Amino acid sequence: MARKLAAGNWKMNGTGDSLMELEALATGDLPQGVEVLICPPAPLISRAAEIAGGIRIGGQDCHAEASGAHTGDTSAMMLKDAGASYVILGHSERRSDHGESDEVVRAKTEAAYAADLIAVVCVGETLEDREAGSTLQVVCMQLAGSLPDSVTADNTVVAYEPVWAIGTGKVPTLEQIAEVHAALRDALTQRYGDAGDNIPLLYGGSVKPGNAADIFATANVDGALVGGASLKSADFGPIIAAL
Ligand code: G3P
Repeated sequence: MARKLAAGNWKMNGTGDSLMELEALATGDLPQGVEVLICPPAPLISRAAEIAGGIRIGGQDCHAEASGAHTGDTSAMMLKDAGASYVILGHSERRSDHGESDEVVRAKTEAAYAADLIAVVCVGETLEDREAGSTLQVVCMQLAGSLPDSVTADNTVVAYEPVWAIGTGKVPTLEQIAEVHAALRDALTQRYGDAGDNIPLLYGGSVKPGNAADIFATANVDGALVGGASLKSADFGPIIAAL
């Protein structure tokens, strides 16, 4: 059985003042048996790690190389050194804003492993894909191309984030989530054997306190990757509690 993970992706939001939201979570009651992760913007990682208590801190991207002439980029090792233990890779905003292909995501995932970071690898279909009936094909191809052979249940988390549900308030039906998660689980066990059963599968896209419990009760959903509702402890706290 996969471990439970409630992950918050702050995206390009927040300054030092926002760390009080993390502090409120860290000093509050966190449920047993649930891992909580916050991925703030890179400049906040060190400060976040200092106050995180039992909450894990992650980056939102890393470069595929360990160091070198890549102005503006951050390596996996730098994230680790700053206090991160996770990194989100292949988020649809990285894929669309920066043209990241599955090959690039796979190289970054390998870089994350080399720096001893857990990779949260994202896949998800566009509205066009869904309307064309190719959702399962698209997410399984992304999964196959984005994950290296060296995946284990300890070094990888997979997040299913339908692009059309991100920041829109639109959420797939529970049946649609279950269908995609079952296909991802199947693909993971076929490729990685028993490890595939234990890789946490997160759902992401307009998760809110009001819909979290139903989503978490869906088969093969081991947690969530939350954007907007992770920015305020008053919203993220109840989502964590629902897991
Ligand atoms: O990575 C989280 C994400 O893309 C979902 O964002 O704001 O719809 O929860 P949001």
